[in-house]
Amino acid sequence: MKKDINYINIVEPSIKEARKRRGAEVLIKNFILEPKYLNLGAGKKYMLKTYGCQGNLADSEKIAGILEMMGYVETNDELAADFVLFNTCAIRENAEERVFGEIGRFEKFRKKNPNMLIGICGCMPQEERTINKIKKTYPHINIVFGTHNIAELPKFLYNAIIEKQKTLEVLSIEGHIYEDVPVKRDHPKKAWVNIMFGCDEFCTYCIVPYTRGKERSRRPEAIIEEVKELAKLGYVEVTLLGQNVNAYGKDLKDINYTFADLLKDLNKIDIKRIRFTTSHPRDLDDATIDAMSLGGNIMPHLHLPVQSGNNRVLKKMNRKYTREEYLEKIKKLKEKVPGISITTDIIVAFPGETEEEFNDTLTLVDEVGYEGAYTFIYSPREGTPAATYENLLTDEEKHQRLNQLNERINDGFLKGRLRFEGHVVEVLVDGPSKNNPNMMTGYTPHNMLVNFEAPNAKVGDLVQVRIVKAYSWHLLGELVK
Ligand code: 5AD
Ligand code: SF4
Repeated sequence: MKKDINYINIVEPSIKEARKRRGAEVLIKNFILEPKYLNLGAGKKYMLKTYGCQGNLADSEKIAGILEMMGYVETNDELAADFVLFNTCAIRENAEERVFGEIGRFEKFRKKNPNMLIGICGCMPQEERTINKIKKTYPHINIVFGTHNIAELPKFLYNAIIEKQKTLEVLSIEGHIYEDVPVKRDHPKKAWVNIMFGCDEFCTYCIVPYTRGKERSRRPEAIIEEVKELAKLGYVEVTLLGQNVNAYGKDLKDINYTFADLLKDLNKIDIKRIRFTTSHPRDLDDATIDAMSLGGNIMPHLHLPVQSGNNRVLKKMNRKYTREEYLEKIKKLKEKVPGISITTDIIVAFPGETEEEFNDTLTLVDEVGYEGAYTFIYSPREGTPAATYENLLTDEEKHQRLNQLNERINDGFLKGRLRFEGHVVEVLVDGPSKNNPNMMTGYTPHNMLVNFEAPNAKVGDLVQVRIVKAYSWHLLGELVK
């Protein structure tokens, strides 16, 4: 096999291995760029295509940091890139199809630019099926690696540029933690800060615990230091990242330090806005709700994925909470953090979901009053338990449920936004609106998108905006002079 496709190294993923939790030691490794890789990218251009969640966006900022440390510069010119890297997502099938379509397009560009190297990393290569497809249909991809070995990208590029060899190296391990990786942040005032990696929840539909390894927390000192440093550099907003931030600290056996403790410590730092994602309803505890009630820099918004409003479906999903327990936590949140905005993720047409069970999701949506939601049709992921469950719904029925849910939640979104009409809110400016370059956009503390005219505003400014009209998905405002 090695000879056939001429890879310098073949380490292939195994979903079976990736499922195991053996309690392997988590090493904290410091990133160092070996001198022989330092100028490998001098005079060369890279293009990074990122798909999926905030975890991937944060990883891409690290990849860009590493590439720039090697001398590469970023380009937007598809034909001029010497290295094109796809940082991929495996959460649903349609995300995967899009990536292969794009890779095919770039393989055509290579006819005009034969020196172009193509790489794929992130969650897709962690799946056996992706590797089989690459070997069969895309054997010209130069570098294939996964979520565990981003720090080794310089070595993979060396293999390609100097040794003229391809690399396929995907580790199915529980995972380690890298510190000191250079980061090229996309936003001048907003920063992602990973607080933990991996997931041990094993929701039956989800591939993430297999693609990202076990739950492992960064040391609190490292996180606090990073946030302090960001504040010093003038960053205004930090979003703490983890697949299940409420499990933060559980794996740090030598200290008794939880997510609530972290929030309380970060609350003391002089930075304007602290956000976090994603929370898991089972692990969201009273201490965290109390920490949120401190206010200050902790923003009044919580993304709390519910997935379904029906207890039988929740059980089949292995979510480990009931509808009633979820609603109880929402009640506490609303009491302790008045005006909090709550958003969620919902999956429709999970295998075996009946019409009545789906209706429970609709009534839950009304009861909670979400002000934002990502809604999905269940997508089977090979190797996960739910992929073996029988699903009798037709595509039409699945889409019908999604549409019905979307209509219902849109009504709720509008209701939630109407409360801001006439109010003045603080907006952190993100830049001109994509749809209308004459308008600026930005987010409020409640994480609501606002469009407003402000010819002199700059990215990262904090401005006061009066809300003049609420729509389902955004607010329209005018700058308060
Ligand atoms: N099919 C559909 N949606 C999924 N999600 C995770 N796995 C799947 C799947 N197999 C959704 C969940 C999760 C969000 C990030 O993606 O709602 O919260
Ligand atoms: Fe997937 Fe569940 Fe982990 Fe979220 S908590 S990443 S849905 S397994």
